[in-house]
Amino acid sequence: MTVTIRTAVDFYERHPISAQIILSKLETQRGTLEGLKPEDLFAHDQDHYGGLAVNDTLAERAELRQGLKVADFCAGLGGPARYYAHRYGVDVTGIELTPARVAGAAELTRRVGMQDRVRVIEGDVMAVPLADQSQDAVLSQEAFLHVPDHRRTFAEAFRILKSGGRFAFTNWTVPQPLNDVDRKLIWDGMAVQTLHSKGEQLAMLSDVGFSAPAVDDVSAEWAVILKERLAMYQKLRGEAQDAAAPAGHDAFYESYVRFVELVQTGGIGGGRFWAIKP
Ligand SMILES: C[S@@+](CC[C@H](N)C(=O)[O-])C[C@H]1O[C@@H](n2cnc3c(N)ncnc32)[C@H](O)[C@@H]1O
Repeated sequence: MTVTIRTAVDFYERHPISAQIILSKLETQRGTLEGLKPEDLFAHDQDHYGGLAVNDTLAERAELRQGLKVADFCAGLGGPARYYAHRYGVDVTGIELTPARVAGAAELTRRVGMQDRVRVIEGDVMAVPLADQSQDAVLSQEAFLHVPDHRRTFAEAFRILKSGGRFAFTNWTVPQPLNDVDRKLIWDGMAVQTLHSKGEQLAMLSDVGFSAPAVDDVSAEWAVILKERLAMYQKLRGEAQDAAAPAGHDAFYESYVRFVELVQTGGIGGGRFWAIKP
């Protein structure tokens, strides 16, 4: 398991979007980083498909409202966490495994003066450093495919929630297990560790104690977004190759092309899940 976790970390340590890149882009656009507001970051700091609209849908499923305490699992650079705090007046603690993401989240949060309401702490969602029954909601976006054990993760969400609290997340799904060649390819290039069907994820939510687990299928939405992203990435890669400049990481590229193909052909899909702690 240690090797696995290191690889997910290695992948995100080398991610092309970092706090430094976001800040330098904003400095170029605005001429200064003085007076930066949370909403200035929102076009850059969300590492999931569908942007802010997806945050709103999850917030609605989790019934976020002023004053609630929320945990954001696999918080990345803290983009969704800052958005929930800004838009819904909640207090958010993000849990994030990759140290560079934790440091980046702290820098961005400080720049927009939200340290009193948002913090991203280093930790593993399979062993969350938060007290039992301390949270009103747990949210997460597009990250559990990197996490070895979904059941342990769901059990951690259940443990830290108060009675009546809600767990809402998006995650990748597979109608049936991938073959070994595809599994290795997307592991090597994208650190994709664990994929379960919608039914398996709903069953695991029930098994750890949640009631009324439900899912919306977002496969069709994500298939469109991924196709556009791949076309954009291929264009940039082609331009870089023409200019004899570095064109990016080949293992990631090969893996991403196959991942997008699997999403287009129904081998991989997406789900928006939610459930209640009784
Ligand atoms: C696709 S990013 C999503 C970030 C964020 N949820 C967002 O929407 O902007 C996935 C994140 O999950 C983190 N991650 C992977 N495995 C983790 C684990 N076991 N515990 C906590 N975070 C983890 C990665 O470091 C990465 O930052």
